[in-house]
Amino acid sequence: MSLDIIIGAQWGDEGKGRITDHLAKSANIVARYSGGDNAGHTVTVGREIFKLHLLPSGVIHPNVVGVLGNGMVINPKRLIEEMETLKAKGVDVSPSRIKISYAAHLITPAHVALDKANEIALGQGKIGTTGRGIGPAYTDKNARRGLRAEIFADMESAADQVETHIAQANMTLEKIHGQPTLNPKAVAAEFAEYAARLKPYITDTSLYLYQALKENKNVLAEGAQGSLLDIDHGTYPYVTSSSPTTGGAFTGLGIAPQFTRRVIGVTKAFQTRVGEGPFPTEAFGAEAERLRGTGANPWDEYGTTTGRPRRCGWIDLVLLRYSARINGLTELAITKMDVLSGLDRVRLCVAYSQDGKIYEELPLGPSHLAGCEAVYEEVKGWSEDVSSVRKINDLPQAAREYLNRIEALIGLPIKMISVGPEREQIVIRD
Ligand code: IMP
Repeated sequence: MSLDIIIGAQWGDEGKGRITDHLAKSANIVARYSGGDNAGHTVTVGREIFKLHLLPSGVIHPNVVGVLGNGMVINPKRLIEEMETLKAKGVDVSPSRIKISYAAHLITPAHVALDKANEIALGQGKIGTTGRGIGPAYTDKNARRGLRAEIFADMESAADQVETHIAQANMTLEKIHGQPTLNPKAVAAEFAEYAARLKPYITDTSLYLYQALKENKNVLAEGAQGSLLDIDHGTYPYVTSSSPTTGGAFTGLGIAPQFTRRVIGVTKAFQTRVGEGPFPTEAFGAEAERLRGTGANPWDEYGTTTGRPRRCGWIDLVLLRYSARINGLTELAITKMDVLSGLDRVRLCVAYSQDGKIYEELPLGPSHLAGCEAVYEEVKGWSEDVSSVRKINDLPQAAREYLNRIEALIGLPIKMISVGPEREQIVIRD
């Protein structure tokens, strides 16, 4: 029995979908455990580009069952749309292949409206959310008044619950934010339609996963977002409202830690973030533009979910060490190595300086980065195109030195290096 966990080691968008897609070849189940359609996982198969927001990216493999765990918040409208899109591309999305936890929470139109209203109210201090209703849905969950996917099993008796939820949200929308309200009956009717479609998918996914692990099946837990966006361990308050870290995989799936075999931390060869919040290694001007790309390619640094240009900079090994520690990473997977080709020199942040002192660990967790200046080490760049490299020794010497330096400073082996968006553009190390 084995559970492998894929963790975003930065601020999300590390290319986890790419690594999941590779590992899903030998998996029986791929399970998502946190977040909702704020995530965007892109997988390229030949000419086909799959953009997934809610379904685990592993479902593209016919051998895999996809699980949406109890730690997720699910917008049923968006889930049905995503299922339809995949179906049109020939992917089987029947209930035998997709299982939704009865305890996952539902995102309603009120959550989306409240998310936007909250951001407007915050003005300059806004979080820069994806506007998908994530925060308000987790707020309701923690206030113990959320709507769980189990209501789809008996929607007739749950119609009142939906109406009450909308009526309550309307008060906040109208009285606090001065925003338009929603029609409770219309939303309840909409949810009855979603229930008819999704009811066959609702199940006890915790039990399903337990039994699968006992039967020696391979389960891959697919993280969404990144460790630095974790509600507890991220750059609070500039975080998401869930737990994308390893701990979140256990609570978000209802499985126990002893099944764990590998915890794979996925990091880009550089650093990006979307939304507001600290970013000590952020680059600006031409340097940032070079890392971002023009937007002409689907893999350039523009959000899969919102299309926003991502802030770009150099790899931050202080934060990566922190991620490795809080997640118990057993290895690293580096993505987008190809993007660094052609740079004269590549920088790695190895420490911070603050008030004349040098810090190799965060002075007080990731929320207190103001005044922390990145201390860089520079290595020689490489001009060779690495996109056709499949063996580590075929990488240019300078690229290998860059990777060796990361391994030495984090204390973990790099087991996978992606060198392009296509499935086969990956270097695997034993
Ligand atoms: P929310 O998750 O929509 O509430 O947004 C909170 C913060 O997390 C914002 O800075 C978002 O840009 C960021 N965020 C949420 N999901 C992702 C993701 O999948 N990738 C990168 N950033 C994300």
